[in-house]
Amino acid sequence: MLQTKVFITRRLPIELEQLRSLATVEVWPERQPPPHKILLEKVKEIDGLLCLLTDQIDRQLIESGKLKVISQMAVGYDNIDIAAATARQIPVGYTPGVLTDATADFTWALLMAAARRVVEADRFTRAGLWQTWEPDLLLGPNVTGATLGIVGFGRIGQAIARRAKGFEMRILYTSRQRCQPELEQSLGVEFYPLEHLLEESDFVTLHTPSADDTYHLISDRQFELMKQSAILINTARGTIVDPDSLYRALANGKIAGAAVDVTEPEPLPSDSPLLTLDNLIIAPHIGSASRQTRSKMATMAIANLIAGLTGDHLADCVNPEVYNF
Ligand code: GLV
Repeated sequence: MLQTKVFITRRLPIELEQLRSLATVEVWPERQPPPHKILLEKVKEIDGLLCLLTDQIDRQLIESGKLKVISQMAVGYDNIDIAAATARQIPVGYTPGVLTDATADFTWALLMAAARRVVEADRFTRAGLWQTWEPDLLLGPNVTGATLGIVGFGRIGQAIARRAKGFEMRILYTSRQRCQPELEQSLGVEFYPLEHLLEESDFVTLHTPSADDTYHLISDRQFELMKQSAILINTARGTIVDPDSLYRALANGKIAGAAVDVTEPEPLPSDSPLLTLDNLIIAPHIGSASRQTRSKMATMAIANLIAGLTGDHLADCVNPEVYNF
């Protein structure tokens, strides 16, 4: 039995031999995440933790153990108290880059599905309602040539812009920092303040991280600014959109539709009013779920874990300042 111990909070879609040659590996076998109480116990015995966005890695947990590394299999890490990890000089790994295209593809799938009412059309057909070709059956807006507003212009936001170019869209973006003019020009995008972007866009797609300043960034006031024909897409984090405002906006026709891969909370409770809306598509947080991407994310997360255990710098580290102490 190797002395170094790691805990992996779910089964991963890759083999773990290299890790097993370095450490005693325990993998949580259930479909549901390990309860926080179990994580609190585990963390007392382990050197490395590989976690997912469903695991709450808070200060109490971080301070209960002697972790050398936390490796998250996701690009987002809002479930981890980074300040607490940094204070303990624990590097936190994440998996940026490899999921950009898969997430942008899925965002596009949701955008197209919401615009052209693919999910409603499927329900309609299965309900036996398809009787003939009808001139006004299940109409939606054009995607080609429409105006797209991208909120948050990091890797994924930019990948969305590249796709939108192929659809001859007018592309607006907003972000904390404006891009270099050369990048704006090559992507064919225009910088707009959020409010102005909301007023102008036929489709609004969210790509900001979850943070204090993006919490409920889209609420009643923002829905008021949007066009009544607009469609909102969220594949970023549920907390960016106020769910009560989203319900009101969709139920009262403030906007035409929405498609989300993320919700607040996740999953939605079975009595959530959002589940009653026909003009809302809800996917179970599968933006990065292509086979190739999930395998690359797991490989990266294991590489970060091994680097942390063996004292190397993590290739993808959220808090590289831990190396400057
Ligand atoms: C998915 O949401 C991720 O952050 O990787």
